[in-house]
Amino acid sequence: MLDWTVGSAAPARPPLRPSRFSSPAADPTGLGAIAADAARVRVDDKAMINARADVNQLLPLKYRWAWEKYLAACNNHWMPTEVGMQADIALWHSRDGLTEDERRAIKRNLGFFAASESLVANNIVLAIYRHLTNPECRQYLLRQAFEEAVHTHTFQYIVESLGLDEGELFNMYREVPSITAKAAWALQHTQSLDDPGFKTGTPEADRIFLRDLVAFYVVFEGMWFYTGFAQILSLGRRNKMVGIAEQYQYILRDESLHLNFGIDVINQIRAENPHLWTAAFQDEVRGMIAEAAALEAAYGRDTMPRGFLGLNAGLCESYMRFIANRRCAQLGLKPVFPETENPFPWMSEAMDLKKEKNFFETRVIEYQSGGALAWD
Ligand SMILES: [Fe+2]
Ligand SMILES: [Fe+2]
Repeated sequence: MLDWTVGSAAPARPPLRPSRFSSPAADPTGLGAIAADAARVRVDDKAMINARADVNQLLPLKYRWAWEKYLAACNNHWMPTEVGMQADIALWHSRDGLTEDERRAIKRNLGFFAASESLVANNIVLAIYRHLTNPECRQYLLRQAFEEAVHTHTFQYIVESLGLDEGELFNMYREVPSITAKAAWALQHTQSLDDPGFKTGTPEADRIFLRDLVAFYVVFEGMWFYTGFAQILSLGRRNKMVGIAEQYQYILRDESLHLNFGIDVINQIRAENPHLWTAAFQDEVRGMIAEAAALEAAYGRDTMPRGFLGLNAGLCESYMRFIANRRCAQLGLKPVFPETENPFPWMSEAMDLKKEKNFFETRVIEYQSGGALAWD
């Protein structure tokens, strides 16, 4: 045991290990030996991937969009425990407040999100962060990682409030085949980066990294989460599970920033590395989006075999197609489906929350303005 009493000799510091990199500017993680004699960072040295600049220096900023998203995310701070659950508890425990179909859809929805928030968080921390060689993007990722923890906390709080079977909910991603299929589809992409020997820097490796960004930011957070939000917000509009609906609205606000950050990251990598974005690769990304929409349609049929007022598997599939085309447009890709109308136009209202500050205080005013937030 170490003796830390006064007067004892300080333990010898381990010698600095030699740098693994030929120059400090080629250190992608920022954990290599410090190069005291390296030149100062210039904006032009910064890059999204394979940067030559020291990744430990936030300033000078190069990607203001990343910094602005970090600031916007900080202004959106919320905690699930600030949302009252009394109405949801009363409804959940009432004999006939919810139909069996509604209960099934709610539980599947919660089960999908409960584990998905962790999958997304693990991907950020263990896969993306390591290879995104830009400090302002990493600053946003640190904030996003915290938000994913808040979202996971939300599902713990819901389970505890409603007295749900935690084992049933948190195991759905392993036990409900349509949820397993979605998680497994995304995991194959983060697993590619999990190999300790994986390094970006070749076109093939850089495309593996891009595929992971597409799978998690565009598909998981940008497509699958959106149908999940639509299901619960649709119930909220009918005054059912209004506490969960309010929490989902805050999660949706966070996720729309996550999605847009991911789109900006992909588009910036494209702009800096046009050789990666070949016609074949564009087709591959469109194929990923189409596959993801098919997985979501199967999940919708499994979750809502009969459907209920205002919501059924067919409407969710149309919404997924509408969203899929929208994501293609954001990435500069041709649409994957024929033009589809948005069956849930009210979703854009739910996204347009302006609650950057004191949103619990301003909510009453917002409920009164234009009815955008009226649940009934
Ligand atoms: Fe999340
Ligand atoms: Fe997210």
